[in-house]
Amino acid sequence: MKRRTFLKSAAAAGAAAVMPAGLLGLGSACTSNNSGAAAAAAWDFDEVIDRAGTWSIKQRRATDGKLAMWIADMDFRTDPYVSRALRERLDRDVMGYTYGPDEFFDAIVGWERKMHGFDVPREWVEYAPGVITSLCQSYLTFTQPGDRIVVQPPVYDPFKGYAQRLGREVVDNPLIYRDGRYEMDFEGLDRLYDKRVKALVLCNPHNPVGIIWPKETLARLADWCAAHEVIVFSDEIHADLALYGRRHTPFCSVSDTAARIGIEFCAPTKAFNLAGITGTAYAIIPDPAKRQRFHDTLSNAKLREASIPTLVATIAAYTHDTDWLEALKRYLEGNIDRTVAVLDGSRGIRAIRPEASFLVWLDCRALGLPQQELMDLFNEKAGVVVNNGAGYGPGGEGFIRLNVGCPRSILEEALKRIQDALRA
Ligand SMILES: Cc1ncc(COP(=O)(O)O)c(C=O)c1O
Repeated sequence: MKRRTFLKSAAAAGAAAVMPAGLLGLGSACTSNNSGAAAAAAWDFDEVIDRAGTWSIKQRRATDGKLAMWIADMDFRTDPYVSRALRERLDRDVMGYTYGPDEFFDAIVGWERKMHGFDVPREWVEYAPGVITSLCQSYLTFTQPGDRIVVQPPVYDPFKGYAQRLGREVVDNPLIYRDGRYEMDFEGLDRLYDKRVKALVLCNPHNPVGIIWPKETLARLADWCAAHEVIVFSDEIHADLALYGRRHTPFCSVSDTAARIGIEFCAPTKAFNLAGITGTAYAIIPDPAKRQRFHDTLSNAKLREASIPTLVATIAAYTHDTDWLEALKRYLEGNIDRTVAVLDGSRGIRAIRPEASFLVWLDCRALGLPQQELMDLFNEKAGVVVNNGAGYGPGGEGFIRLNVGCPRSILEEALKRIQDALRA
């Protein structure tokens, strides 16, 4: 196997090291005398990292030599610049109550403009204590028990699970799957609508099917929701991992209508592999009345206090050059290409190439196996722990979600095991 290594050039690393902290957006809180250590900054996505002893949820299921390819974090180190910023901040040994500084909000505004071409006024941004926590708080704020919330399965299952736990009724508007492509079902929305429908959860990009929704689709969705007085909660956590030259479109950027009815939830946690720093997210809420209500809910629940790691990691991730992120995306594209090359067509499996992120959606229906047997084929026979497609709701039966955010050697081993299991 050809080994591919992405090593940050010493020159580029050195440039980062000598850049003034202000330019890097770290501010004085993160500067230290030993910032020259960054000269050693390098990355190698081929490196197999031992996660033992790190309390990894992903690894906990991978007993007896199984490979963990399920929950959505990656088996890579984070961007060295982020690690360095965290280390330097911890080295100051100051852990007292901390406010969200201007640098945090400026970093987000700058990132949205740079990455997504979205000019977000500073006042639209609210700190958010994690995407799903904030979504739950939004369910509580903008809907009442018994109200209906629309989700578009197959989709990230906590959208539905938490809405139900909070006493809301969830209505499925399944995506249309045609010729290996997914589309939104607008006629389905017309059919399901009644006055109890108050909100819709959008997954943009869509986990698990990997779509970056086209601007026209988002604008049409905004028009439909506005006409029916339905608020849109847009989960954009995978946005920074747009692949193959594609660009993500933030929901609130597509039209004035979308900005009026939409709330976006975003975070650096997927792209920079920071999921263990929980509570690291932010909301973009253009409409002042909605923003005030969200703000008040979080204040009343004492959920508006970002932790030091959250603030430092977000600022660091969003305010320096994107070399690491770009290299990561090329590596993920390589992993996805390899997965599609090996599995697509294998005994009728169809591998759906994601447009964003590191999750490959495998259509295994041609194998003709009941879902439990399909899961056993991957989890037990192959020893590759995957996510059960059926868990994502209607349309997920017969599918598997495979996380390819791992070193190439691990991926190759997983693909070999899956092929062997398919042949046996
Ligand atoms: C679409 C989506 N939203 C939210 C999350 C979790 O976000 P958080 O940890 O900020 O609650 C995930 C994690 O996999 C996800 O895929």
